[in-house]
Amino acid sequence: MTHRSCQAIILAAGHGTRMKSKTPKVLHKVAGLSMVGHVARAAKDAGVEEVALIVGPDMEPVLKDAQRMHPNVVACEQTERLGTAHAVLAARDHLIDAKDDVIVLFGDTPLLRSETIAAMREKLAAGYDVVVLGFRTDTPEPYGRLLEKDGNLVAIREAKDCTEEEFKVSFCNGGIMGFAGAGLLDLLDSIETNNAQGEYYLTDAVEIANARGLKVTAIEADESELQGVNSRAHLARVEATFQQRAREEAMAGGVTLVAPETVFFSYDTKLGQDITIEPNVIFAPGVTVGDDVTILANCYFEGAVIGEGCAIGPYARLRPGAVLEKKAKVGNFVEIKKAIVEEGAKVNHLSYIGDARVGAKANIGAGTITCNYDGFNKFKTDIGKGAFIGSNTALVAPATIGDGAIIGAGSVITDPVNPDDLAFTRSRPIVKAGWAAAFREKKKKENK
Ligand code: UD1
Ligand code: CA
Repeated sequence: MTHRSCQAIILAAGHGTRMKSKTPKVLHKVAGLSMVGHVARAAKDAGVEEVALIVGPDMEPVLKDAQRMHPNVVACEQTERLGTAHAVLAARDHLIDAKDDVIVLFGDTPLLRSETIAAMREKLAAGYDVVVLGFRTDTPEPYGRLLEKDGNLVAIREAKDCTEEEFKVSFCNGGIMGFAGAGLLDLLDSIETNNAQGEYYLTDAVEIANARGLKVTAIEADESELQGVNSRAHLARVEATFQQRAREEAMAGGVTLVAPETVFFSYDTKLGQDITIEPNVIFAPGVTVGDDVTILANCYFEGAVIGEGCAIGPYARLRPGAVLEKKAKVGNFVEIKKAIVEEGAKVNHLSYIGDARVGAKANIGAGTITCNYDGFNKFKTDIGKGAFIGSNTALVAPATIGDGAIIGAGSVITDPVNPDDLAFTRSRPIVKAGWAAAFREKKKKENK
């Protein structure tokens, strides 16, 4: 196939009043990424080179989010909301010299897969002028109906404009449409507002294209892919669908989920093979997990890299910049932030390790804290290979513990420790022989 150029128009001008939010609707997140981010990302993965994002006034943050996921997004402002065709026409300047394929996407339909966009592009490559993405549903009520005759798509009728007969059709318009770029402006300019809502319906392009003898078709996607979001309840439903999809993909890829419905992934979670994940584990964005990792129950990860063969949890928290090399161990009630834990090192209990390096095979005792912050600045702690940090130690950063050094339990370390040295801080215990027994005797008498 010769290369076909492609642009997408993402409609995102609605504020989404039913969300009852100060945040524009398409910035609400699904699996850690804004809805508009999901759509821009799917477009990129489907080979879309250029995106025109249709936004209302003051939607700079919406543009920024889309740009994070696609390198080439421009915003086009639609000041009045006069319908979906009117919205697409806000990108008129970018459609004068339209690409081969133009795909219209909705900013509030985040589950659409790039494969589906690619399937629409294949139809355009095969010579169709208009491709509509349909789905079948038991609850077609609010949607536009796809009206077919002899296997051809002849029209899309909005629910409010349907005859009784048309209203019964269960093949619906998902809202996503593909067009051959060359004739698109001409089609759009022919759309009028003679319908129940007095709007410029993009869907009218189907009837007009048919009247002109152009080739029109519909392809089908799963209903779940076309779920739109208008309210917080819809947002939760879309999140649930995303998570179900992600769990199935994880298991199909060789990950054991003991209780799949309790594990939550992000849009970008990367998982290797032969990983076991116990219940109640949350992957916020930016996490990569290598092969043969075991994650025990109740962990929270964000922006972390977990190397091959690591053992984590229960109750561990990895924050952004945590890097665990091969076979590292991070146990219960341990928090790691912006720190590298080198191969085979262990941080097994009740510790905070931040802005640090823990050398290979080092052992960090229970309750060790890197004191990385003085209220103004952050400082680094460097722990050498094979070092042993005794329990309940405060390493006051900047701190350097040499390779193979040992720190005695309960120490507050404020000076550098050389390799293979022992360092500890102590106050001698005061021992009063028999004092406890005498104390108990006295209290017993008093309380008689
Ligand atoms: C649209 C389709 C309908 C389809 C349904 C699927 C039309 C006329 N109807 O209906 O056939 O079944 O989607 O969900 O296209 N928008 C703008 N500017 C506007 C109008 C809309 O940016 O002037 C944006 C909205 O923010 C939204 C999207 O376009 O993201 C769809 O608009 P909406 O009004 O929700 O269309 P529906 O009536 O749901
Ligand atoms: Ca809608």
